[in-house]
Amino acid sequence: MTQRWTPSSWRDKPIQQVPAYPDQQALTAVETQIAGFPPLVFAGEARKLKRALARVATGDAFLIQGGDCAESFGEHSADNIRDFFRLFLQMAVVLTFAGSSPVVKVGRIAGQFAKPRSSNVEKQGGIELPSYRGDIINGIDFTEASRIPDPARQLDAYRQSAATLNLLRAFATGGYANLENAHRWMLGFVKDSPLSHRYEELAGRITETLDFMRAIGLDPEAHPELRATDFYTSHEALLLGYEQALTRVDSTTGDWYATSGHMVWIGDRTRQIDHAHVEYCRGIRNPIGLKCGPSTTTDGLLKLIDVLNPDNEAGRLTLIARFGADKAQQHLPALVKAVQREGRSVVWSCDPMHGNTLSSPSGYKTRPFDQILSELRTFFEMHRAEGSHAGGIHLEMTGKNVTECTGGARAISDEDLHDRYHTYCDPRLNAEQALEAAFLIAEFLKKEKALRGRVPATAAE
Ligand code: TRP
Ligand code: MN
Repeated sequence: MTQRWTPSSWRDKPIQQVPAYPDQQALTAVETQIAGFPPLVFAGEARKLKRALARVATGDAFLIQGGDCAESFGEHSADNIRDFFRLFLQMAVVLTFAGSSPVVKVGRIAGQFAKPRSSNVEKQGGIELPSYRGDIINGIDFTEASRIPDPARQLDAYRQSAATLNLLRAFATGGYANLENAHRWMLGFVKDSPLSHRYEELAGRITETLDFMRAIGLDPEAHPELRATDFYTSHEALLLGYEQALTRVDSTTGDWYATSGHMVWIGDRTRQIDHAHVEYCRGIRNPIGLKCGPSTTTDGLLKLIDVLNPDNEAGRLTLIARFGADKAQQHLPALVKAVQREGRSVVWSCDPMHGNTLSSPSGYKTRPFDQILSELRTFFEMHRAEGSHAGGIHLEMTGKNVTECTGGARAISDEDLHDRYHTYCDPRLNAEQALEAAFLIAEFLKKEKALRGRVPATAAE
């Protein structure tokens, strides 16, 4: 794969998961229009994220990546974005403070609209229609008209992404993310939540710390890092025509960047080395993610790393492991060992969601919280055993109090699922479950910190 790369060179490769647009001319017209729109993110921001991820690769920071499985046009509201961002801040604070690790914050948001599907068609009551592929492509309603891919949806996705990003930037830098507000981020929680007590206690310690700083004459107001945070966006780079239209040259370096989001990833179904999605991603300079699953072989992974990160640049490549609680221990150690042996710099992140999806007796697609925690535990213990860094997590979650995954502190049961099951695609952790996961991970990080702390001491003896 030494041929010249261009933003459109993917078009000469085989490709999976392409929507059947009935009107190619209309599609081209939309892509041309988007190519003239302003970028959503800037190359300098993507580089800053890459530097932050380089610290994750060496175990000096931790990555939280999370958000909806699929964003939707129907649920685009300020409240939803705020609730999501607030949950993200709470999780970040738990890991930063309780886990004493800086947290790199990357949302699955402001562009996460396209979904790969296992089948091109969906059957309901004897009727067969094209599968729903995400709001950027077609509609979720089970009608013929709604399931026809419509290029104009890309314009709506672009505009929704811009509006979402605008609000996220305001939240991240405009005062909402100020650590002085740590108590207020609690508002979304039900008062009697077992997690709310745990979080309140932590927020209390942060307030105390800030008061202490003031008492000894350090002015929190003089430190912008207490008032603001860096928040990044990401999505699966699936709809390549849209991605190409937003691929731009960075005027300061002459390099190409995807400007649809800070980070994009290649999904489990589109990571064939000689196919279009890998071709597109190899040429952009953003940090990129690569999903790894039970079908990933050691050799296949090393070849993909060669293509996607030929210069072994730290922070460029995040490997997102999604094996399932029962398969992680069987597959992951060989991959981690191989990456270490070859001296490849990567961020290892754990997606404990996608390998743990099942159909509940009541017919809902769900994920047992126990299994999610179990895969996380395996991931951390395995990395510790191999002397590698468990760098981050990749979660499907929402700030809303939904009932989509079973279990958790509130013990959501199969019979509860119908209550608030709102997802457009896969089941997400609700705010309580996500925070509970964050507390568990904080414990792992603390242990890892303690172990690392002993290393120099022993070496000096
Ligand atoms: N700027 C630091 C950071 O982003 C500290 C910080 C400010 C923070 N607001 C936050 C950390 C909210 C977590 C959550 O890490
Ligand atoms: Mn999903």
